[in-house]
Amino acid sequence: MYMKKISYGRQYITDEDIEAVVKVLNSDYLTQGPKIPEFEDAFAKKVGAKHAIAVSNGTSALHISALSLGVKTGDNVIVTPMTFVASANCVRYCGGNVCFCDIDPDTFLIDINKLRQMITSKPKGYYKGVIFVDFAGYPVDSEAIRSICNDYGMWMIEDACHAPGAYFIDSKGNKQMAGNGVYSDLTVFSFHPVKHIATGEGGMITTNDDDLYYKLRCLRSHGICQDNNRLTRCPGNWYYEMQDLGFNYRITDIQCALGISQLKRLDWSLQRRQAIAAKYNEAFKNISQIKTPKVAKNVFHAYHLYVIQTEKRKELFDYMRSINIFVQVHYEPVHLMPYYKNLGNKEGDLPVAENYSKHCFSLPMYPTLTDEEQEYVIEKILEFVK
Ligand SMILES: Cc1ncc(COP(=O)(O)O)c(C=O)c1O
Repeated sequence: MYMKKISYGRQYITDEDIEAVVKVLNSDYLTQGPKIPEFEDAFAKKVGAKHAIAVSNGTSALHISALSLGVKTGDNVIVTPMTFVASANCVRYCGGNVCFCDIDPDTFLIDINKLRQMITSKPKGYYKGVIFVDFAGYPVDSEAIRSICNDYGMWMIEDACHAPGAYFIDSKGNKQMAGNGVYSDLTVFSFHPVKHIATGEGGMITTNDDDLYYKLRCLRSHGICQDNNRLTRCPGNWYYEMQDLGFNYRITDIQCALGISQLKRLDWSLQRRQAIAAKYNEAFKNISQIKTPKVAKNVFHAYHLYVIQTEKRKELFDYMRSINIFVQVHYEPVHLMPYYKNLGNKEGDLPVAENYSKHCFSLPMYPTLTDEEQEYVIEKILEFVK
């Protein structure tokens, strides 16, 4: 047995990262200081967006995204079921109804044809918006979703927590990076340690919309406005106004220093992830018991996860865990979580997502996974299936 535990994902912290954090600890600002706009600017530049707003985590990013777009009690919002629960919960925080749309069996992303059917079967205004996820790092064709949403006056939130650096080539031949704000109104990212960029906890929202940017900045910090141009009155420099009911969803300078340092390695991390995926693809290409993920030619996959599908999922899962390989299942579909079942969702509602979730299995995928470790993982899977 491999002595060291091999997990499905993990962070990579370098001496440079530690130095960057220590510098902030020795500085005047632990929070609300200069590292926050520095991280925001660097991140916006990386994904090609006009604005970026750094927040405490991906969940708070989703929550204030939904609020800034006006989600309120009774609003219907379409969400993919193949995601972490937070993508749907943000609608519930605002009192909205989550309407799930099934996934595509090849990409595991929201099924755009089913999405179109859902939207066009109701009058304009019935659905307010859609939250779709660049699941596992596979970027959704947001151009296609935009064309449907435009006709129905719907907004779009892209949950790119798995996909910083991912892109697809649109119908005009342009590279569209997740988070560049060209098609999606808002895009959210998470910096949880298993993600591409780790800040402990942390999140980011990107947008090209000036008004949404302003609203999000207020909602992140108690709904307080300090922008002179937007105050209702200005008796002096001490003055600030609470204009909306916001939260303390701020990130710290300590976390942002780590984020800035980690962002510099994003391209390297993506290349490593691509190489690891290519090696898994090659190893399993003739193994009928293992279905590997398919990726279209016009897509750059960020490979947060490398998901295989197998009939003997439980047996393989238990076996891998017993030999210290901490594989994981992504995900049980959100609509079958007891909370969402209590709201009226049931088994059989979304057959593709349900079938996928019975067979899916995430293999170790992180940039510091060594060749030796990956070969060991492959060898054990091949031994098991033969
Ligand atoms: C797709 C997706 N959305 C949202 C989140 C929530 O992010 P966070 O854990 O930073 O709150 C996650 C985190 O696991 C995620 O995977």
